[in-house]
Amino acid sequence: DVLDAHDQDLAGRHVVVSAGGTREFLDPVRYLGNRSSGLQGIAIAQAAVARGATVTLVAANVGLPAPAGVDVVEVVTTAELHAAVVGAAARADVVVMAAAPADFRPADVSGSKIKKRDDGRTPVVELVENPDILAGLVRDRGDARRPFIVGFAAETGDENASVAGHGRAKLERKGCELLVVNDVSEGKVFGREDTEAVILAADGSEVPVPPGSKSRLAHTLWDEIVRRAGRQNP
Ligand code: CTP
Ligand code: CA
Repeated sequence: DVLDAHDQDLAGRHVVVSAGGTREFLDPVRYLGNRSSGLQGIAIAQAAVARGATVTLVAANVGLPAPAGVDVVEVVTTAELHAAVVGAAARADVVVMAAAPADFRPADVSGSKIKKRDDGRTPVVELVENPDILAGLVRDRGDARRPFIVGFAAETGDENASVAGHGRAKLERKGCELLVVNDVSEGKVFGREDTEAVILAADGSEVPVPPGSKSRLAHTLWDEIVRRAGRQNP
C-alpha cells in the first residue's frame, strides 16, 4: 500500500492523538454523547506508527480495535480525557486533538436512575461547561512551541460565516498551530470511510485536502506537521 511506504520521518518522536466522543452521565444508565466515531483519530495514530513515531492514543468510546503498535488509554468522560491527554502531553512532541469532547456536562449526576413522575412533569437538565483541553494545552506550554498542537473542527456554513471562515476564527481563538476543518453539513464525514477537509495554519496558509480516505488525510496532516515542526525544532 502506497500509504504505508512512508519515510520514517516521525522516528524518535512521541505523539499523542485523541479520538472519539466523550460521554457525560446523567445517571448510572444515561449519558449525553456526540456523533464522533473515532475513525479519523485512529487513522492519524496508525499513520504516525507507520512513520516511526511512538504513539499514545487516548480513545473515548471508539468501540474499534486500536491499531497495532499504539499505546492506548481508554477514557469515557471529558474529565478523564482531559487528565489522560495532559498526562501524556508532558512527554509529547505533537498533540493532535481529533476527539470530540462534550462542551457541557450535567451539573449533577444522579446516583440512582432518574424515574418518570406520576404527575407527568419532565426533568430539566442543568449543564455546566467542561474545560477546553486544547486551549489549556496551548496556555500551559507558555512561550515554548512544544508540543506542536493540532485541533480539529467540524463546522457547517451559516448566515454568519462559511465553513472556512468559522475555522479561521476558531484557530485564532484556540492558539494552536494547525486546525483541520471538516464540512459536516448534509451528513458528510461522521462515521464515514471518506472525508474532505482544509488544514488551516496559524501563519495564514491553507492546505485543501480533496475528498479521500481518512488515512489519506492523516498522512497529509503528518506531512504538514513534519514540515512545520521540523522548522521550529531543528
Ligand atoms: N476541544 C477540547 N476541549 C473541549 C472542546 C474542544 O480540547 N472541551 C478541542 C477539540 O478536540 C478540537 C478543538 O478543540 O480539536 C475544536 O473543537 P470544537 O468543538 O470545534 O471547538 P469549541 O471551542 O468547543 O467550539 P464550538 O462551540 O464550535 O463547539
Ligand atoms: Ca465543541
